[in-house]
Amino acid sequence: MAVNAAVQIDRLRIKELIEREEKALNEATRKSEAMYKRAHAVLTGGVASSYQLRDPWPIYLERGAGPKVWDVDGNEMYDFHNGFGSMVQGHAHPAIGKAIRDRYEMGTHFAAPTEDAVVVAEELQRRWGLPRWRYTNSGSESTMDAIRIARAYAKRDTVMKIFGSYHGHHDTVMVSIGVEYDKIGDHDNLASLPYGAGIPQATVDMTVAVPFNDAPAMERRIERLTEEGRKPACVIMEAAMMNLGVVLPEPGYLEAVRDLTRRHGIVLVFDEVKTGLAIAAGGATARFGVEPDMVTLAKTLGGGLPSGAIGATEEVFEVVENEKVYQVGTFNGNPLTMAAARASLLEVLTPDAYEHLDALNDRLLAGCEAVIERYRLPGYAVGVGAKGCVTFSPETIVDYETYKAHQDGELCDLAWLYNMNRGVFMTPGREEEWTLSVVHSFEDGDAFVAAFEEMAADLTA
Ligand SMILES: Cc1ncc(COP(=O)(O)O)c(C=O)c1O
Repeated sequence: MAVNAAVQIDRLRIKELIEREEKALNEATRKSEAMYKRAHAVLTGGVASSYQLRDPWPIYLERGAGPKVWDVDGNEMYDFHNGFGSMVQGHAHPAIGKAIRDRYEMGTHFAAPTEDAVVVAEELQRRWGLPRWRYTNSGSESTMDAIRIARAYAKRDTVMKIFGSYHGHHDTVMVSIGVEYDKIGDHDNLASLPYGAGIPQATVDMTVAVPFNDAPAMERRIERLTEEGRKPACVIMEAAMMNLGVVLPEPGYLEAVRDLTRRHGIVLVFDEVKTGLAIAAGGATARFGVEPDMVTLAKTLGGGLPSGAIGATEEVFEVVENEKVYQVGTFNGNPLTMAAARASLLEVLTPDAYEHLDALNDRLLAGCEAVIERYRLPGYAVGVGAKGCVTFSPETIVDYETYKAHQDGELCDLAWLYNMNRGVFMTPGREEEWTLSVVHSFEDGDAFVAAFEEMAADLTA
């Protein structure tokens, strides 16, 4: 995978190209600039979520159709951002549109269960093999409720997570992500650090992070915590990390985690907010063949509407069934969302759709890998299902420490600018990846590779 005989990239050349591409993007997005000025008077930072911030202004979108989006300046782009990986169905899919319209005519919200909520749960049960389900409205709600259920089930408070993994914006999981390299701590004793202000220290201390792809390190930390009387209630993790680009589990890692969590009586939660329904019909659980005690879903589930779900074993969900834990929410299982999810699961995200996503992703990965080899760039292409990225690093990234030590952030920034200026709408941020949709064609995928090749040629000219 990794190309070790890479050329030395001239740092000044990167800076020059960043400057040139930023100027071009600013010139092409003057209506976004005007919108930003207006927005900033009413929306903090001019955006609805801090993840939408961008300097000097965000790109405001107007519409999307199939594999494409248009911004307020009329720039037409292939969408590889896809709503941070939520729109695997593509934009305005007719089957989902029909389901939403039909449901609207029948009323959109009752805070009482409807048949679609049952149908969606039946389908999730079939895909994940987990017998019991509940709904939420977002990924953060899913991981928040899953952790509470796991704590109640295990009757313990400590939560173990993977250092560098993002699981949403509630306090317990806003710990040990996105910190500077020198603050990480020792590999065997990684630090618990708040991600931003406003998170109580007592909560931070209750969350313990361990490195990805190192089951022995996880077990050693569990044993130490057990000796200290703070054995974790659960391990919450992505089976393949999707917030450091894409980091795949090494052979045997997930099996070892499954084995050790079972032996220690710790609930294993696969956070499939990004992987679920994007990398296979049954998510990472099906793709990697390791069954957790709980999964959390969101993003792709709602076909573009806010949605989330939690799946678990009967034993774990017993604490909800017997009303020890209140798993609640006014909009949980909202009929409009459930209608969209039903159409998405039964009519759009079909076995053929996943075959297409796999073939398209293979083509993108192979195309990017060929460019890397041709221009001898320091990096490699990596992905699974609808997800992938070029990781700019001379070494394979296996966890947060190797990511922080080796990722070339400036090349990531430059790649984003090249994409945006060449009709490829991409996730901002050095830790993101592309998400394909079922309506992207091979030619659409080739547009991504072409933009990447242009950058490679300019960098090495
Ligand atoms: C793995 C994972 N879990 C949870 C979340 C939180 O989801 P939401 O933004 O819908 O709250 C995210 C968001 O990106 C995520 O990537």
